[in-house]
Amino acid sequence: MTTEQTLVLVKPDGVQRGLAGKIISRLESTGLKIVGMKLMQISDELAATHYGEHKGKPFYEGLVGFITSSPVIAICLEGPDAISTTRKIMGATNPADSAPGTIRGDYGVDMGRNLIHGSANEDDAVREVSLFFSDAELLSYKRATEPWIVE
Ligand code: RTP
Ligand code: MG
Repeated sequence: MTTEQTLVLVKPDGVQRGLAGKIISRLESTGLKIVGMKLMQISDELAATHYGEHKGKPFYEGLVGFITSSPVIAICLEGPDAISTTRKIMGATNPADSAPGTIRGDYGVDMGRNLIHGSANEDDAVREVSLFFSDAELLSYKRATEPWIVE
């Protein structure tokens, strides 16, 4: 197990539908630690950088329009295998293919309204965490429960 940080976004649909608490609760319940969190409006510039890998694809304009349409909650989660654990709890990109028990499977029906973003791999995670959070916004702290979460 490697201790990792990952970037999560509760997307505009999650905030608008009042599902942010439920989504965060599922991630928090794993034992992963919240080390940064804020409500924010994503600018066109930030969206273009964050989703740069998708530029030119048919869904790109819609994706950037959606992610900038209303506030998101940005979260940095830290812990063992934080990247893959978060992706597993999110479910497949298309909610129609997401297993029951995943966030997208339980709360979504449409690819373009899939509620949550999570970094896809280590390189993306490092880049995305520093894109959304300054060093001062990421807190290092101990929880009394940690020996009950990691052996
Ligand atoms: P995300 O980056 O938002 O966490 O989602 P992801 O890794 O599961 O999926 P990714 O391939 O990075 O795609 C980013 C977002 O673009 C939309 N999408 N639409 N119509 C399509 O074929 C298509 N493919 C991707 C989705 O909303 C996806 O979350
Ligand atoms: Mg992605």
